[in-house]
Amino acid sequence: MQDTLVIEGGLPLRGRVRISGAKNAGLVLMAASIMADGETILDNVPRICDTEVMVDILNEMGASAHWREDGSLSIHPPQDGMKHWTPLELSKKLRASNLFLGALLGRQGQAVVSLPGGCDIGSRPMDLHVKGVRALGAEIEIDNGCIHAQAVETHGARIYLDFPSVGATENLIMMAAKTPGLSIIENAAKEPEIVDLANFLNSMGAKVRGAGTDVVKIEGVSRLKAGRYSIIPDRIEAGTYMIGAAISGGEVLVENVIPTHLHPIMEETDQGILVKAGRTVLHADIKTLPYPGFPTDMQSPMLALLSIAQGTSVIVENVFENRFQMVEELNRMGARIRLEGQTAIVEGVPALYGATVRATDLRAGAALVLAALAARGETVIENAIHIFRGYEDIIGKLTGLGARIK
Ligand code: UD1
Repeated sequence: MQDTLVIEGGLPLRGRVRISGAKNAGLVLMAASIMADGETILDNVPRICDTEVMVDILNEMGASAHWREDGSLSIHPPQDGMKHWTPLELSKKLRASNLFLGALLGRQGQAVVSLPGGCDIGSRPMDLHVKGVRALGAEIEIDNGCIHAQAVETHGARIYLDFPSVGATENLIMMAAKTPGLSIIENAAKEPEIVDLANFLNSMGAKVRGAGTDVVKIEGVSRLKAGRYSIIPDRIEAGTYMIGAAISGGEVLVENVIPTHLHPIMEETDQGILVKAGRTVLHADIKTLPYPGFPTDMQSPMLALLSIAQGTSVIVENVFENRFQMVEELNRMGARIRLEGQTAIVEGVPALYGATVRATDLRAGAALVLAALAARGETVIENAIHIFRGYEDIIGKLTGLGARIK
């Protein structure tokens, strides 16, 4: 896949765009599928680099995974003989590979997963995952960059998460779904992707209640039966195209969204979401927080938009400590953004200008695409592979809206 995007700026986005399935729901459901007996079929999984890596990981582990002709994804773990470790090189490419910790422990009581890869946006430790699976009866050793977990005597437990971590909540729900007794996760993450995981597991016979609130209760069952399930739309992709309309001065109908999932960033309307750019972008102050707060994944795209706002905006990043790497790149395009620790002070400028810039992570890359749409002249985004990790057919979708991108 080409690693550079070239965008000619200054053309307003106009038309309709259909939002794909949620990356973060797709990834966790793909991991959870190995816990079912038989073949699971997932609809609406986006075909992006991250899900392709996940398919490769599943196949290396011995769970047959392939895309079907109708675009759905089939995952069929063998009855016996599946590996209990994730392949190292592939796992390094994908933070979400750590979701096999809970899935493998739930399935076969043993797991070796490597410590995080994925975006370089902060330290991303796994202490909360480890604390939780220990409480459910797994013994843990950390060796050579890997977590080795062995279920000894598993039992339901009450677990309090010091921070509502999305990944830790997901790993614990998966393991607890197959652990005898009642487990209670307190201060759980409330993201829509957690609700999707619970709905998926429940469709297979699990007993998960309270997902979407900060207390999730799971009654373990001995068996999960495979079936077919369609994942939710990607609220971050939707938000990115909404900003695309605003930043380029266009008008876009964003289709296939669940408006309530977008409450942290907008007000609800009746059908799809129509975004019409006003004459000017107004400044805003934002702080990122776990759901239902403003999503950290929308922070970089929003920074691009606010860089051309009237007045000064303040953005505080509370979730990841290293998520302002694109500031330098945006400033190369004419933005005026100053960093003070975890706060960005954005002094709006009348225009951005094309430049050669580099994507440092997925959402930083999306921010550069958005800035490029608004910029005068041509922008070259290097290292665009990060963008393809999370946005299905971004070139096709933007071209369909009138952008010049290749
Ligand atoms: C998930 C999403 C990612 C999103 C993030 C926050 C996936 C595949 N990725 O990532 O797109 O940006 O949620 O909405 O779903 N933490 C700890 N100890 C732990 C676990 C986490 O301190 O054991 C900290 C992290 O360092 C970070 C914060 O908690 O500062 C949030 O992390 P978490 O919610 O776990 O994010 P991910 O699941 O990695």
